[in-house]
Amino acid sequence: MKLLHLDTSALGANSVSRELSAAIVARWQAAVPGLTVDYRDLDANPLPHLTGAELTGANAEAKAAGDATMDQFLASDVIVIGAPMYNFGIPSTLKAWIDRVAVAGKTFRYTEAGPEGLAKGKKLIVASARGGIHGHDADFQENYLRYVMGFLGVTDVEFVRAEGIAYSPQHRTDAIASAHASIGASNVEARELEVA
Ligand SMILES: Cc1cc2nc3c(=O)[nH]c(=O)nc-3n(C[C@H](O)[C@H](O)[C@H](O)COP(=O)(O)O)c2cc1C
Repeated sequence: MKLLHLDTSALGANSVSRELSAAIVARWQAAVPGLTVDYRDLDANPLPHLTGAELTGANAEAKAAGDATMDQFLASDVIVIGAPMYNFGIPSTLKAWIDRVAVAGKTFRYTEAGPEGLAKGKKLIVASARGGIHGHDADFQENYLRYVMGFLGVTDVEFVRAEGIAYSPQHRTDAIASAHASIGASNVEARELEVA
C-alpha cells in the first residue's frame, strides 16, 4: 500500500499544514504495517509552470518530470496534501502539481454521458490551514481541491482543518489543537480492512 505525502506551504517550520500533514501520515504509518510513503515538498522542489514545450515534448526533461509525477499519483492508494489557503485558493506550487495529474485519457475522460474520473479507489486527506474563517463563497481552496480531485475520480476526501489562525495566538493554538483532535483513526482502519 502506497501513501503519497505532499507539502506545499512556504512557511517552513512555522507551517500549520505541514505539522498537520505530518501527524496524519504518522497515524497512517502506525496503523498500516508495510505502508510505503513517498514524500514531495513542492515548496523546496517545485514543479515549474506547465508550458507548451512540456506538453509537446519539445522540453524532454520537463515532460519526463511531469510523467513521473503522474505515475507517482496513479501508483498511490492514499494521498495526504498539506494545503494552505493562499489568496482564497491553493499555492501555485500545488496547482502546478495538479496540472501534471489532471490529464485527459489518463485521469479523466469525456464520454457521451459527460466526464468520468479514472483515478478511482484512492483516498485523499487534506491538511488545510487558513488565516481567516471563510464561508463557502470565499473558499476556492477546499472547494477547488474537492472538485478537481473528484473530477479525477478521487471522491473519498477528508479535510483536517485549522482556520482563523491569524486572528490571535489563542485562536492559532486552539485551531491547531482542534485539528489534531479531528485526525481520526476510523478511515485508517477501514482502509486497512479493505486492503487486508
Ligand atoms: C501568500 C499568502 C496568502 C494568504 N492568503 C490567505 C487568504 O486568502 N485567506 C486566509 O484566510 N489566509 C491567507 N493566508 C494565511 C495562511 O492561510 C495561513 O498563514 C496558513 O496558516 C498558511 O498555512 P501554513 O501555516 O501551512 O503555511 C495567506 C498566507 C500567505 C503566506
